[in-house]
Amino acid sequence: DSSGDSDSGSKYTVATDNNFVPFESMNEDTGKMEGFDMDLIRAIADEAGFDIDIQSMKFDGVVAGMQSDRFDIGIAGMTITDKRKETIDFSDPYYDAGLIIAVQDGNNDIKSEDDLAGKKVGTRSGTTSEDYLDKNHPDAEVVTFPGIVEAYMDLQSGRVDAVMYDVPNVKYYVNHDAKGKLKTVGDVLQGEQYGIAFPKGSELTPDVNDALQTLIDNGKYDDIYEKWFGE
Ligand code: ARG
Repeated sequence: DSSGDSDSGSKYTVATDNNFVPFESMNEDTGKMEGFDMDLIRAIADEAGFDIDIQSMKFDGVVAGMQSDRFDIGIAGMTITDKRKETIDFSDPYYDAGLIIAVQDGNNDIKSEDDLAGKKVGTRSGTTSEDYLDKNHPDAEVVTFPGIVEAYMDLQSGRVDAVMYDVPNVKYYVNHDAKGKLKTVGDVLQGEQYGIAFPKGSELTPDVNDALQTLIDNGKYDDIYEKWFGE
């Protein structure tokens, strides 16, 4: 995979998740990764004048790959947290998110996070939702899945009562694959911001921040946002 023409000759590896709609997922027709994160990192690479090689993996692998310096850049809807900042560097924030709860469309039992006690709540392991549930909902039975799609499947089949995950991903899933079957309930919990990740001390961070700011100023960021989140 490549970002297009570049004179600098530098090529950097980009680690991403293999399935986090609409930020990154495989387009089976083109065989390429697509989504908001993918368009953004390609535009940043173009702007900053380097080439990229996108490699998709499990989300945990993106985090671990940054910590072990295996990849140059990580972009995977990754929330900037103080805990992660101990071992990873982040760009400036590029997307405002948060967490939300999904239940079956016919569920009248769970109306907000106040109704989670004694319920089976699915989420993906190693994410901010897991941390949030552990911290704020000790009375809920948290069920962690290796991938979030499995959690949504188990919600549809009734094996879990609710799923908690990032707002844009939950909303996208509820409005597409699970239309009419799942719904969101309650408020957006815990405001979060996504950042592009780097191994600690990476010299790429300021260049990526500059390119990101340019794309925000020249409207290209808005075009990408509109493409993936516009109505
Ligand atoms: N924003 C949450 C976190 O950073 C979930 C991210 C999940 N991203 C993904 N590509 N699966 O923990």
